[in-house]
Amino acid sequence: MLGGTVFTVLGPDVIVEAMKSPAGVMEFHDANMELFEMEYCFRDKNIPKKLPIQAVRGPFTRNVPLLLKRMEKEYERVFTEALGTNMAISDMRDTLMKMLVHCKSRQCSEFISLFPIKSLGYLLAPLVVDLKRHHRTLDSILIPEIQRRQKAAKVPGFVPPMDLLQFICELRKDNDELGKPEELVKSVNFMIFASIFDTLFHTTHFFYDIAGLPGMRARMYEEQQQIIAKHGTDFTKEALQDMTYMDACLRETLRLHTNATSTVRMAMREVTFANGLSIPARRLCFVHSRAANRCANTYEAADDYLPERISATPGMRASTTGPGYVTFGMGRTACPGRVFIVSVIKSLAAWTLRHYDFATKSGTRPKSSVQQFGDYLPTPEPILFELRNA
Ligand code: HEM
Repeated sequence: MLGGTVFTVLGPDVIVEAMKSPAGVMEFHDANMELFEMEYCFRDKNIPKKLPIQAVRGPFTRNVPLLLKRMEKEYERVFTEALGTNMAISDMRDTLMKMLVHCKSRQCSEFISLFPIKSLGYLLAPLVVDLKRHHRTLDSILIPEIQRRQKAAKVPGFVPPMDLLQFICELRKDNDELGKPEELVKSVNFMIFASIFDTLFHTTHFFYDIAGLPGMRARMYEEQQQIIAKHGTDFTKEALQDMTYMDACLRETLRLHTNATSTVRMAMREVTFANGLSIPARRLCFVHSRAANRCANTYEAADDYLPERISATPGMRASTTGPGYVTFGMGRTACPGRVFIVSVIKSLAAWTLRHYDFATKSGTRPKSSVQQFGDYLPTPEPILFELRNA
């Protein structure tokens, strides 16, 4: 029970069945509508239930190497700024936030401050002011920029910018018209909802895994030397594909370090699972991702961080979903941004390893603990950097 609402938590024995249920039985989009205060989040009671996933699946994923070229400049700028003269970063999550989200205020990436949960209504009031501020910021930056691009697109020879905003601007509605700036801002807001919090959360875990596990870090660096010898320094599709050890490590990070639950489903009618569990229609369900990812029936030594178990299985990549790996969801609604974000996290880790040797101050991986707003993140510890080939 949460704020007077009854929820069911789905465990590993029913998760696959629930996530692979046909449309209209266990729904992802209806569950989100029910869970979050959509009116406050998006200034619209009738917000479309679905995110603009075509913009992510198609052009965003196809253009990964070009997008990474732009991000590389950000990696360099933010690292140089964050390291300063003492070559240490005391809060990795904040630095990643500046790099990946272009944002300095922690509050702008706290999930609850952006997307309040409906059944916790009494906690909502203080957030309304924050949400209005976020909306004003989005409007003031994006509306003029969308108008500028729409005008420029009418001029022959217009070269569209290579970013998600442009892909969203180019999406056509059912009536084949382009969206109005105010509608497009809502789509951007929706995309922030889907991506920012998870991206920061998992990248923070990955950096602490690399910084706290010296053997793994050395092997990853060695792999980078081989990649550069074969592909040069660009993050091409082939180079990213060949980073098999890093991919296996990232998959272990994504498998082991999840919050207890990372997605939801709603029963659209009374549902009885194969194990006899029955839930009533309209019941909101949390998927216990952590239990599925650490299930002893799927993995030997399920709680241990063992990238070797993945490198030994061809075709098993950090973006491949499966019964023992539901960090990106599963089935019809599995995260459409997963190929893109796995490439971003790998390129960022590779770029950092190529430029710096780095380790936590204690030389070990800090234990995760519950942080503000209930996120299970590494207990903050400084990471010390040393420039390579200085
Ligand atoms: C490590 C980072 C990320 C994680 C762990 C993650 C995880 C997830 C999960 C668990 C879902 C729900 C899937 C389900 O229940 O079946 C989801 C949906 C979604 N994600 Fe991601 N995500 C990440 C990054 C991103 C990024 C970077 C984007 C966009 C660029 C994105 C776009 C979306 C969208 C649009 C949906 C909704 C899909 C739909 O409506 O069918 N995600 N994600």
